[in-house]
Amino acid sequence: MKSAGLVGWRGMVGSVLLQRMQQEKDFAQFEPVFFSTSNVGGASPAIGQDCPPLQDAYNVQALKRLDVIISCQGGDYSKAVFPKLRAEGWQGYWIDAASALRQNQDAVLLLDPLNRKQIDQALASGVKNYIGSNCTVSLMLMALGGLFAADLVEWMSAMTYQAASGAGAQHMRELIRQMGAIHQSVQASLDNPASSILAIESQMTSAMRAVDFPCEQFGAPLAGSLLPWIDSELPGGQSREEWKGQFETNKLLGRSDNPVPIDGICVRIGAMRCHSQALTLKLKQDVPLADIEGLIAAHNPWVKLIANQREASLRELTPSAVSGTLNVPVGRLRKLNMGAKYLSAFTVGDQLLWGAAEPLRRMLRILLE
Ligand code: HSE
Repeated sequence: MKSAGLVGWRGMVGSVLLQRMQQEKDFAQFEPVFFSTSNVGGASPAIGQDCPPLQDAYNVQALKRLDVIISCQGGDYSKAVFPKLRAEGWQGYWIDAASALRQNQDAVLLLDPLNRKQIDQALASGVKNYIGSNCTVSLMLMALGGLFAADLVEWMSAMTYQAASGAGAQHMRELIRQMGAIHQSVQASLDNPASSILAIESQMTSAMRAVDFPCEQFGAPLAGSLLPWIDSELPGGQSREEWKGQFETNKLLGRSDNPVPIDGICVRIGAMRCHSQALTLKLKQDVPLADIEGLIAAHNPWVKLIANQREASLRELTPSAVSGTLNVPVGRLRKLNMGAKYLSAFTVGDQLLWGAAEPLRRMLRILLE
């Protein structure tokens, strides 16, 4: 039986990963060894079977004994530990949620419903490094993989509405604190039916601009507002999150040498764990809408076509409807006024599931096949 080490399992992505692995009974398929950066010797998590005490996540000799390592510990950990392990001659499989190694030539990005063939070819040719993709990229490709697989996309613009979870657990807590602070600031007026809504709005805006408004994580109010920048600044005015759209999509499609142009603006909104995206595509040819829908729906078992109608969109195409599920609904599909080759789409997906944990556990399953 293969052994697999889990690092960073206590964090948010790691916890979702453990949950999913328990739901899918993955732990019966391999020998799990849990690692820690802070509680070495402590008890492993309760997964319904005996596991050794927590091992030191920085102990290269302990890590070297494993067939597979799955890290949700973050990019700094990967940068510190991964090169040492390889330098020691470790030949095991490294599966990573962090972005640190995504650009490496010897790393394959993970989204097997889209790139299973690429993964199988990489395995056959001895590639050992498998890295989870950016969440917006994974969720967009789970939604529109059918169009990319059919090579129908000339270019795409993605305008994103990204949830707080993409920034981290502390950010999610702060978003709720901000919501509470806003409500508290206007509660009395809100309860008084005679109060003016403009006075309530003004009170609320003052509270959001006050120095004591909880903004330590985001650096600005997100609740009742939005943040039109995600990740670091790159030369040329693109954010790093926006840059990932084209780079990672094309790496997943195996066409980095002949990339589909992809660009847009990435925006943080006050959703908890579902990223949404408004997509504009120019197709290479005028394909009837029914054929487009057929290609999208047939691509994978999780994508769900939502009729381009008001009631269905409000019921099924929102973060609150999708949160905690593996469904990737896509709707608002229609040809745009710009011409018959121009298509709009809107999609929502759980950033912690298909956007982070699910491709990792599925890669482990591929290795165990
Ligand atoms: N970078 C993403 C975000 C999350 O900030 O929402 C991880 O891919």
